[in-house]
Amino acid sequence: MALPTIDPTTTDAWKKLQEHYKETKEVHLRELFATEEGRGKKYAILWNDFLVDYSKNRLTDKTLKLLLELADEVGLKDAIKSYFGGELINQTEGRAVLHTALRAKKDDEVLVDGVNIVDEVFEVKEKIKSFSEAVISGERKGYTGKAFTDVVNIGIGGSDLGPVMVTEALKFYQNDLKTHFVSNVDGDLVHEVLKELNPKTTLFVIVSKSFTTQETLSNALTIKKWFLQSASEKDVADHFVAVSTNLEKIKEFGIADDNVFPMWDWVGGRFSLWSAVGLSIALSIGYENFEDLLIGANEMDNHFKETPFEENIPVMLGLISVWYNNFYKAETEAIIPYTQYLHRFSAYLQQGIMESNGKSMDRAGNRVGHETGTIIWGEPGTNSQHAFFQLMHQGTKLIPTDFIGYKESLHGDVDHHNKLMANFFAQTEALMNGKTADEVKQELESQGLSGEELQKLLPFKIFEGNKPTNTILIKKLTPKSLGALIALYEHKIFVQGVVWNIFSYDQWGVELGKQLAKNILVDIENSKIGKHDSSTLNLLHFFKE
Ligand code: F6P
Repeated sequence: MALPTIDPTTTDAWKKLQEHYKETKEVHLRELFATEEGRGKKYAILWNDFLVDYSKNRLTDKTLKLLLELADEVGLKDAIKSYFGGELINQTEGRAVLHTALRAKKDDEVLVDGVNIVDEVFEVKEKIKSFSEAVISGERKGYTGKAFTDVVNIGIGGSDLGPVMVTEALKFYQNDLKTHFVSNVDGDLVHEVLKELNPKTTLFVIVSKSFTTQETLSNALTIKKWFLQSASEKDVADHFVAVSTNLEKIKEFGIADDNVFPMWDWVGGRFSLWSAVGLSIALSIGYENFEDLLIGANEMDNHFKETPFEENIPVMLGLISVWYNNFYKAETEAIIPYTQYLHRFSAYLQQGIMESNGKSMDRAGNRVGHETGTIIWGEPGTNSQHAFFQLMHQGTKLIPTDFIGYKESLHGDVDHHNKLMANFFAQTEALMNGKTADEVKQELESQGLSGEELQKLLPFKIFEGNKPTNTILIKKLTPKSLGALIALYEHKIFVQGVVWNIFSYDQWGVELGKQLAKNILVDIENSKIGKHDSSTLNLLHFFKE
């Protein structure tokens, strides 16, 4: 069953939400908390090791009721069934969307064209397990008989961002293998990385779903050339493995059949870290930890599939984000993890969220009349507090923000962790309450200011507050809790795509730039420059001079 094509703006719930927005838009979070005792507990979901508090949002019972009505009217329940059931919901590419099958249990059944794909998934998982264990233990060696010390993941977009984010996030669990990532076609990156490496002890993992991506193929060829300066063609089999759906192209590149890790067209690049695309993750943290990552994601899948919407974390966070995006017209959302380990988390989610829901055609092929994908950004706290939080507190933009924090630190430094978390809680409280003129006045008076001097300073010290946040507080950063956290955002993407009546799983928008780059490369490499606008021509002449 395809996803329905329901324009959300034509639903009763949407119209009621518009009215409700007009009536409540001036209400301050301070008032909501003052008038509703127990609001903090009421608007929170406790699930496994997660406490998700969405009470510091501009919403009431009525808002939630209407958002849930909207979810019903756009057919979210059936859409979830189609998603997990392997329907071809990526209609523009004629594919199912089954990253959830990558973390299914062995006895689960997910049918694609009548075949249970869970069996194939487990075959590849077995291969990831035996390969990663052999490399980590030193049983699998390089061409001179030495064990591997370094692993280089060569890939871009979904073939890079997931692996790099997770290996950084789970650094605490890493073994002795050093992982490196080469993504950008910028030759300075690959040459910088190669500077640190010994060809005799380095394993290269080429990851490209299509195996046609310019950046990845260029980097892989440069690296192979560098490798062959000290090794011979037959040694390539010991040092290069590939992850792709394009088995023909892998062969052309010279990768041995045994070194190929297949993937499937029903896994989107930006949702692929759970497949063999995550090989560098398994190499870096060991297979058992990789498996735990999948278990955590599977638990979140089941929560999303089975929990009533009002207690369902991805559904609630997705709908709350729709509330701000489409009614308050907030354009961006910030994601601020209070752990340095998650320093690539928002960069990873930028692809997941913006490549998925950055669409302007509805599912019937007409231009949408409402806003779709949010702009995602963020950096870890507390660093971000000293960078862009000024704008969040006193700027003119409304920026709904997710704060992600952990009860325990991994190295157990209680002193540091208490300070970190004090900042974590203080920021959401400050964003919500702000500081009133009366409070500022009192503070200035206590500092000895009065009269004209006080009045002059007063307006600059006022914080409006009323800035919405979600707090995701998790027991500990483990492979399992990270798996669940990533899956939470994956399902939030799905919820929003369904509401906005768009196709979340294609990415035609990145093609145009790729095509033009190919043509311009010809202009750069040849003596004559082809037809371009006057600005591009001028720039190309300057570049070539
Ligand atoms: O940026 C576009 C894109 O197609 C992404 O969706 C994908 O993750 C990335 O390029 C890399 O593609 P591939 O894995 O085929 O090299």
